Amino acid sequence: MDILAATTNARPQYKVIIRPESGKFLPVSRHTELEIGFGNGEYTVQYARSNPETLLYGVEISQACVLRCARRAGGLGNLRLINTDARYMLRELFPDESLRKIFMQFPCPWSKNADAHKRVTAKDFADGLAAVLEVAGVFEMVTDDEPYACEVWDVLGRHGALTAEDFTVNPKREITTKYERKWLEEGRKIYRVTFRKSGAFTVSRRVTGGDMHIKIPREVTAADMAGLRNIEGRTEGRNSFWKFGRTFRESGGDVYLLETLTSDDEYEQKFYIHVAPRDEGFLLRLDKTTLAFLTPAVRSALNDAAERLSRP
Ligand SMILES: C[S@@+](CC[C@H](N)C(=O)[O-])C[C@H]1O[C@@H](n2cnc3c(N)ncnc32)[C@H](O)[C@@H]1O
Repeated sequence: MDILAATTNARPQYKVIIRPESGKFLPVSRHTELEIGFGNGEYTVQYARSNPETLLYGVEISQACVLRCARRAGGLGNLRLINTDARYMLRELFPDESLRKIFMQFPCPWSKNADAHKRVTAKDFADGLAAVLEVAGVFEMVTDDEPYACEVWDVLGRHGALTAEDFTVNPKREITTKYERKWLEEGRKIYRVTFRKSGAFTVSRRVTGGDMHIKIPREVTAADMAGLRNIEGRTEGRNSFWKFGRTFRESGGDVYLLETLTSDDEYEQKFYIHVAPRDEGFLLRLDKTTLAFLTPAVRSALNDAAERLSRP
């Protein structure tokens, strides 16, 4: 089977953009790499073109950037772009020991203390990285921010399965971006830190696959649905949060869509819960048009809505 064809988006002009399925890893080839936070894709597209034997994935949190990069890529056969947050999703997208190289170019340094948690490298990112890299695989970060380079050097260097290998100021790079060339022409510096995976490592995954359907043994009314508005919940001891919003009702029918927001370790999703008559009662499931990943907060939100709507 052609693994690239299997993941290709149906719209030809954007066939490089893919939407992973909840709880399913992406297909990998013998030589698969990942770029995190590719921005407008200037480096990404040149890199994919220069390395046709590599299957290159790119994960970017900004939808506008994903679209810009896709236009630039023009349907490159060895590039696949995913619009999501790499901090939470890295370990959910790739199996253990599947990536030969992961790289980040000029990530947002989020210098203020209050923003430090937004850095891609904050929290448990190192564990995800150490799991999905092949043994002897490489993580490389290039930045114009010296304190960030030093912090990553310290934090990742302390991880038991990663070895800090190289810290170079103004490395020679075959592919450079416009921003990078201008920065260097002004006499400023860039820093490259490199780590190699030294031994086997794994992490638990939090996203599950399949469908989640919950049966409610009673009739649900518009008033029941309206009663859910602004209800919030949080899992005990874990960083999962959910909140219900407005309900939309199919005109003249008993089918409802409940707007829901969730957050898992700051990974946010907005989607609809579909509530419709089934047999003697009602059935709750994720609405198929909104494609949320089944994170702990999404599963809890579905269970909470079902439990509240089941009350007599
Ligand atoms: C300063 S830009 C650099 C873009 C590009 N690498 C370059 O060198 O031109 C950093 C990029 O990282 C993306 N980003 C920030 N946090 C992210 C995250 N958690 N997951 C994925 N991408 C992220 C931003 O949207 C932005 O496009």
